[in-house]
Amino acid sequence: MSTAKKQFKKITTHKLLEMKSNGEKISMLTAYDYSMAKILDGAGIDILLVGDSASNVMAGNETTLPITLEHMIWHAQSVIKGVDRALVVVDVPFGSYQGNSSEALRSSIRIMKEAGAHAVKMEGGIEVKDSIERVLTAGIPVMGHLGLTPQSIYKFGTYTVRAREEEEAKKLVADAKLLEEIGCFSIVLEKIPAVLAKEVSISLSIPTIGIGAGPHTDGQVLVVHDMLGITQDFKPRFLRQYADLNKVISGAVDQYIKDIKNKNFPSEEESY
Ligand code: KIV
Repeated sequence: MSTAKKQFKKITTHKLLEMKSNGEKISMLTAYDYSMAKILDGAGIDILLVGDSASNVMAGNETTLPITLEHMIWHAQSVIKGVDRALVVVDVPFGSYQGNSSEALRSSIRIMKEAGAHAVKMEGGIEVKDSIERVLTAGIPVMGHLGLTPQSIYKFGTYTVRAREEEEAKKLVADAKLLEEIGCFSIVLEKIPAVLAKEVSISLSIPTIGIGAGPHTDGQVLVVHDMLGITQDFKPRFLRQYADLNKVISGAVDQYIKDIKNKNFPSEEESY
């Protein structure tokens, strides 16, 4: 059992602010189901994100766009049941907050009420200001998400690094300030230059969580299937693979099949 788990203090948005002030880095991973959430929480992860990347890694879609609010609530309900300590943040999926602020509020309330989530995450800056503000006024903590925002993939056209050019970098800095001013408790910075992520992180009092944004953000997030090596066909430069579960699982299943074919499973001891 890890040290973080032994201390067993629930992670709150307030605690994350404290961690930033104390210079303690924040750890975050995605989770989509009960069993994995239980393992990650037990290992002491600070934040679990029920990401709309479930659309890619759980459902096999090319983008995050097809996942629905109902799907996200179902995944979040499963994750919440496996968690004792981590803060559980749930992505508000594409098409359920961009339309207007009432829709954003309705969607976020469903996520909080039906899944028991602790916070929601929405992608974008000034474009979704009204939606984020409305959700915040209902007392729902909101995490922002800037840089590469996968829900806008058809606008960008590619998954390459964002905000390399001055104009886009300036907009990102302004959006980050805006999200802090209106009351977001944290911001994900995805796939932007490390120097820009550093500038934003220093200029804000709320924590930034990076993915492909270099070492200077206040925390880091990865998609759990990518860092455990379950995903095979996704190897961006920013990804550190901590295990090769694809190999482990394939090996175990290969042995299982052999044991059945060779009449080696089940044994006497494994029978009634
Ligand atoms: O959905 C997701 O997994 C995310 C992370 C990449 C931050 O938004």
